[in-house]
Order: sequence, then structure tokens, then C-alpha cells
Amino acid sequence: MVPVLLSLPLLLGPAVLQETGSYSLVFLYTGVSRPNKGIPRFQATAFLNDQGFFHYNSNSGKAEPMGPWNQLEGMEDWEKESQLQRAREEIFLVTLKDIMDYYKDSAGSHTFQGMFGCELLNNRSNGAFWKYAYDGQDFIKFNKEIPAWIPLDPAAESTKLKWEAEKIYTQRAKAYLEEECPAMLRRYLNYSRSHLDKTNPPTVTITSRAGPGRNRIFKCLAYDFYPQGISLHWTQAGKVLTSISGGVLPNGNGTYLSWVEVEVPPQDRDPYFCHIEHSGLSQSLSVQWDETKKPKPERNVATQPQEVTLSA
Ligand SMILES: *[C@@H]1O[C@H](CO)[C@@H](O)[C@H](O)[C@H]1NC(C)=O
Ligand SMILES: *[C@@H]1O[C@H](CO)[C@@H](O)[C@H](O)[C@H]1NC(C)=O
Ligand SMILES: *[C@@H]1O[C@H](CO)[C@@H](O)[C@H](O)[C@H]1NC(C)=O
Repeated sequence: MVPVLLSLPLLLGPAVLQETGSYSLVFLYTGVSRPNKGIPRFQATAFLNDQGFFHYNSNSGKAEPMGPWNQLEGMEDWEKESQLQRAREEIFLVTLKDIMDYYKDSAGSHTFQGMFGCELLNNRSNGAFWKYAYDGQDFIKFNKEIPAWIPLDPAAESTKLKWEAEKIYTQRAKAYLEEECPAMLRRYLNYSRSHLDKTNPPTVTITSRAGPGRNRIFKCLAYDFYPQGISLHWTQAGKVLTSISGGVLPNGNGTYLSWVEVEVPPQDRDPYFCHIEHSGLSQSLSVQWDETKKPKPERNVATQPQEVTLSA
């Protein structure tokens, strides 16, 4: 279940970079036809922005709040939520079986994944989506403007027929995305805004190692920051240098890390600076590579580290 959690920011890519006043509620469903021992046949995880909010699996049959949401009373009726997830599990696994029957895919294990959710920007609905994949390939997606299910795979034609058997079904899906989901998100935000708005400034270290020839490679590493949006670059004498970046990676505990490397020729005397911009920093941070000093983590003291608190 951990890989599913780690993969959300990577799946959503830069789209998940939260602008101020932007919040999302996303559900990720995974069904496996022949799970390995101990792995649940069905798992559902809900995310508020990029934070795991609750998890359900077919072994426990229970929707359980995660992380800080564990300690919140009155935000959700978890018994009701569990019932809802159990009902969705059933439909989900029937669809997986239908697809396998269509392809006569009885050998091996097959996976079916669903992802849907909505976004609010400044309290206004700002998009929603609903899509499924079979064995990692796009299968079907919902177009809420028509509204209709759009098959993306030959087997999805019969799924579409089933899911559109009555006109009310597509109207309900549209209403779910455009009304229910944003309303749920607004309600959740009443309890979660302060947690989602918290920022954690990056801690920065600079290291050096031997490069090709007599060159050296300077690495500027920023870690333990939240949210995920960050800008890192190297400069020398006011000029931005070409560098290699490792992208932004989740740490697994809700914070992120990122790095940029630059290759420098020997006997180059002008100092090198790593510049870091992040919403947790009151102003951009410049850290100088200093040959004479042992590198030590640099924390910006202008901003206070924020506590993880939730308003009830
Ligand atoms: C956000 O939008 C909802 C629905 O339109 C409205 O009921 C609510 O008062 C709004 N909240 C704020 C803080 O503007
Ligand atoms: C959020 O909380 C406010 C104040 O407690 C309340 O008036 C409002 O109805 C709540 N909004 C939602 C969507 O639950
Ligand atoms: C998150 O994990 C990183 C790497 O394991 C660790 O250095 C850091 O202290 C952790 N941060 C929090 C807030 O737990």
C-alpha cells in the first residue's frame, strides 16, 4: 500500500503543484485479480492535495483516516464511508472481471485502476476528472460536458453500455464531480485548511565530489520541504549556470527533496551560489559553496518552522 501513496505526486506530475488557494480531493482505486499473499484485492486511498487522507482495503473493509486526520473528531462518519467504499469495491471488481472475460485474460494477475477527483481554486470549482486504466493502459474516462463515458479501449465499449444503461447514471456522475465532490472538499477544508496550508522551508546542504577530468561536481540538496513547489539553481558571478536536476521527490513522510548539480572546471576562483526559492522561505536563499568550510545544513531562520496543527 505504501507504493500507491508514494506514487500520487508522481502520477499527477506538476499539475499537483498547489497554487495558493488551490485544493484538491482525489481518490485512487486499485483492484488486482490475483493479489499476492497478504495484498488486498482492492485498495482505495483518498488524498487532500498530496496528503493521504484516508485509506480503505478489502481485507479490513474499513475506511480509516491517515496521518493528522486520525486525531480529528466529527469530520467524517467513518462507518458510512466504509459502507460506501465497500459498495464501490464491488462495482469495481465486477468491472475488472468483465474486462478479463472480454479478453479471456484468465492467466496471470491483472490490475484495474481508477482515479477521480475535483479541485477548488479560491473556493470555486476548478476542474474535475474520472478515469480508469486496465493493466496500466487508459481504459475509459468520463466527459462531464456531454456527459458520457469515453471508451479508450475496445473492451470499454461494453463497460460504457453498462455504465450508461440508464440516462440518470451519467447525470449522477456529472453531479458527483461538479457538486458533491466540491461540497465534500469544502467541508473537509473547514477542518484541514491549516494543515494543508502549512509550509516547511527546505534545509540545504552543498557537497562536492570529483567529476570528469579534473573537474568537480557541486551538488546543492534541498530537503524536508513542503509544499512540493521549489526552484533551485546555481549561479556564478550573477550568471545562471547549466545544471542537472533530480526533479522533486517525495520523502515518504509528507516532505519533499530536490537537488541540482553543476560541473565546474578546476582553478575557478569566482564563488558559486546555490539559489533556493520556496513558499516556506520569506525570501530566496543563496548558499555559497565554500572550499574552506565543511558543508553544514543551512536552515533559514527568517521563517519559523510550523507546527502540524489542525483546526477543529
Ligand atoms: C465557498 O463557496 C460555497 C458554495 O458556493 C459557499 O457556500 C461558501 O460560503 C463559500 N465560502 C467562502 C469562504 O467564500
Ligand atoms: C464551514 O464552517 C463554517 C463555520 O463553522 C460554517 O458556517 C460552514 O457552513 C462550513 N462549511 C461547510 C461546507 O461545511
Ligand atoms: C522526513 O524524512 C526525511 C528523510 O528520511 C528526514 O530527514 C526528515 O527528518 C523527515 N521529516 C519529518 C518532518 O518527519
